[in-house]
Amino acid sequence: MEMLGVDVGGSGIKGALVDIKNGELTTERMRIKTPKPAKPVAVIKTIKKLVQNFDYRGPLGVGFPAIVQDGFVLSAANVADEWIGYAGQKKIAKATGNKVTLLNDADAAGLAEMRFGAGRHQKGVAMVLTLGTGIGSALFIDGKLVPNLELGHIYLKGQITDAEEYASDRIRTEYDLNWKSFANRLDEYLHYLESLFSPNIFILGGGVSKKFDRFIPLLTIRAPVVPANLRNEAGIVGAAMAAAENQ
Ligand code: BGC
Repeated sequence: MEMLGVDVGGSGIKGALVDIKNGELTTERMRIKTPKPAKPVAVIKTIKKLVQNFDYRGPLGVGFPAIVQDGFVLSAANVADEWIGYAGQKKIAKATGNKVTLLNDADAAGLAEMRFGAGRHQKGVAMVLTLGTGIGSALFIDGKLVPNLELGHIYLKGQITDAEEYASDRIRTEYDLNWKSFANRLDEYLHYLESLFSPNIFILGGGVSKKFDRFIPLLTIRAPVVPANLRNEAGIVGAAMAAAENQ
């Protein structure tokens, strides 16, 4: 069974058809730049373009970089403020003519990693973090998701901004941090999360997970840290999975 998964990110909106049985993409990934400013009408137009490109009719899953509850977007850290309180799920359904399941992007990525990737068969508490424009977080207990955890927005000791303004991949590139400095920042963040949640494992995803060998060996926390297996595709796969489960 194939479903279309879409992953709305701070810099790109990506989509592909996904085989729900094995979590593999069955088409090339298509990517369109996220419109700036990322207001609802412009973003939804881009999603519609993606859907039309695949000539897709069917349940559509969309991962979105904000809190999403009952089809409504409730925050907007890396998109325009107009999204706050917006009935995103209904509006995307109307624009594309498909039934839509809208969920948080990190929750989508986490679902895919837990089913098909680094978290397969993982019991206990697993924490999936996506390091990109922001920091996304998804918490699983015996494989079951606790949705909308927003751990990119906690404050670290001595810092005056959110953790994602300190340890995301965007900050690594913006400040041209070397791997050691980036690893140190990430380590500080993970130590704090470990003291709060004691996860059995951390799974790190997002674009930077492709370079995991540069920074994961430098981390000093207790729990094992592993790179996400599905890398940047997890968000697309998880969105499609959520659509399949919501039929
Ligand atoms: C948002 C989260 C999102 C994460 C990754 C954060 O700024 O608040 O909802 O999951 O970025 O995109």
